[in-house]
Amino acid sequence: MLGRYQPIVVANRAPLALEPADVYRNTPERLVKGAGGLVTALSSLASSTSALWVAVARDEADRALAARGDPAELVTEDGTTYRVAFVEPTPEAYDLYYNTVSNPLLWFIQHYLWDLAREPIVDTATLYAWREGYVRVNQMVADRVVAEALASAKPPLVFVQDYQLYCVPGMVRAALGDVRIQHFVHIPWPTPQYWTILPKSIRDAILHGLLGADVLGFQTRRDVRNFLLTCEENLGLAVDFRERTVFYEGRAVWVRNYPISIDVDGLLAQADSEEVIAEQARLLSWRPEKLILRVDRTDLSKNIVRGFLAYERMLDYHQELHGDVQFWAYLQPSRQDIDDYRAYLGSVLSVAARINRKFSRGGWTPIRVEVDDVMARALAGYRQFDVLLVNPIYDGMNLVAKEGVVCNRRDGVLVLSENAGSYEELGDFALTVNPFDIDETAEALYLGLTMDAPQKQARAERIRETVRAADINRWISLQVQDLRDLID
Ligand code: F6P
Repeated sequence: MLGRYQPIVVANRAPLALEPADVYRNTPERLVKGAGGLVTALSSLASSTSALWVAVARDEADRALAARGDPAELVTEDGTTYRVAFVEPTPEAYDLYYNTVSNPLLWFIQHYLWDLAREPIVDTATLYAWREGYVRVNQMVADRVVAEALASAKPPLVFVQDYQLYCVPGMVRAALGDVRIQHFVHIPWPTPQYWTILPKSIRDAILHGLLGADVLGFQTRRDVRNFLLTCEENLGLAVDFRERTVFYEGRAVWVRNYPISIDVDGLLAQADSEEVIAEQARLLSWRPEKLILRVDRTDLSKNIVRGFLAYERMLDYHQELHGDVQFWAYLQPSRQDIDDYRAYLGSVLSVAARINRKFSRGGWTPIRVEVDDVMARALAGYRQFDVLLVNPIYDGMNLVAKEGVVCNRRDGVLVLSENAGSYEELGDFALTVNPFDIDETAEALYLGLTMDAPQKQARAERIRETVRAADINRWISLQVQDLRDLID
């Protein structure tokens, strides 16, 4: 079906990033896959349909890529070609768009991260950042999509991604009128009341922008319900909850959930690569008998500190495990231009250090924290864990839960937050926890470490089957199917 159309993927990040040469480490310049779940999921769609990808140039490295062509034909190390058109806002506009509005404001609202008694403080600076940063960058992106759509010989199919670009569907619709637009929100959609943290002008503009699309995609059924309620309560729109439709300016906007997933075969092939096997050999040289793993960006929503506190409780209750277990936190630095994120990484490191001081003895260190971003090392960890801790406060989906169990070779147990999007699919086969309850999480970690082999095997097998049955191809085909129904 896509063959008749020109797909245009629109996202803040490009599908690949330039890693400059490093004279100290003696490594050459590399074009590597961009970070994060969104890029992983959309890359398959973009490369298999020769979609055009419109992205925002985030830094000097992206600007260097943008200088290679317009759109730039970029080929990754594994030979995949992407066509990327960059928009290039000024660094000031980008900073207001990304570091003031998208993260933290929207990200914090959508993951319920604000301590509302103290934060956020909304003032004219917020409105300025919205106007001069967020709306301005969204308009640049929309203008670029419109230009590409008008230049294309085939009718465009526009796939806009995530919370950085909420105004784009409305802007593209205003310019092109009859065009098919889908917007997918990768992160949770909170309740209508929580949105009222934002000034009315901003929260209404977000809904008006999104409703420019024909189909709105979310991760879970809960997100869909919350979105429909938000349209009804905050904007007074007519909503059909059974048909999951919002009636807006004479159009019916479909609201659907499409749980995002992974490329199972591609990931398994990568997990068997020489690089990963070499990382695994390194891991085997230090791993204790029992290994608890977490792999996360250093994001406040990931709940890394409570994960350590839960582990501390477990070590308090189960002295027999001392010396035999280690908690490896493999953490990717994230959004370090934002104060809250820097402070959070500081708390993560200091809590881990305190727990290590409390329990370390005879060469045993209970927690190993590594702040780095080497995919092969994460994959080696996936192969080797006994327990994988995924305990976010709230999370759109959390692909670590899916990737980890699919790659694991020890029938490791998944300890999963009931507030992760992946809970809707995997909750029955994981040990599920309330992410705020560190005693319950401690108990789940212990149960996971001591579970008998047949039960572990049965649970891991069910998770692998579930992920295989609903992999990334299904995520894409469900969306394409809905677009087809819409067009026909
Ligand atoms: O789902 C949210 C998301 O866009 C993910 O793709 C990714 O994990 C993360 O946010 C990336 O954030 P950033 O681009 O700010 O590093």
